[in-house]
Amino acid sequence: MIGVLVSGEGSNLQALLDASLPVCAVASNRAGVRALERAAAAGVPGSAFELSEFADRAQRDATMANWLQEQGVRLVVCAGYMHLLTPQFLDRFPDRIVNVHPSLLPEFPGARAIDDALAAGVETTGVTVHLVDQGLDTGPVIRQEPVPVQPRETLIQRIRAVEHRLLPEVVSELCVR
Ligand code: GRF
Repeated sequence: MIGVLVSGEGSNLQALLDASLPVCAVASNRAGVRALERAAAAGVPGSAFELSEFADRAQRDATMANWLQEQGVRLVVCAGYMHLLTPQFLDRFPDRIVNVHPSLLPEFPGARAIDDALAAGVETTGVTVHLVDQGLDTGPVIRQEPVPVQPRETLIQRIRAVEHRLLPEVVSELCVR
């Protein structure tokens, strides 16, 4: 059973739902985002865990982990989730948290990966699906696919399209493990 962590648009969540993967819970660090609407439309329980409502990040993550486990989550997918996870959260799902990132890691970690690749003038960037550890986009790579930067005008859409194919593929493989 899959729990998806989101922060905004939720197009990667949608790709998982469209692939009929067993998503049983969606947790967001922001209330009122489109991703939570997508969860509701699919009949999947969704909940927001905003940092401002907790004493600190560790407490927020502990509450979020409790909720996910109550929903039966065994595998956590960060799909456009823009906060780092605390060690307390990572320990609750050891080696069972994956993230999708719009670059060929370790190149261009962080929240501005596509802009950073454009600014660096590389010819090729891409998509990475990796296991999550305490670092910023640093965990072991599970799968990568290159995407040519040119034409620059369509780079974001082409990266998204690869994310939406690669993430469900990898997640479905992890589900059978
Ligand atoms: C995706 O590019 C994801 O890789 C990145 O943030 C974007 C979020 O997209 N971390 P969405 O919320 O899944 O539409």
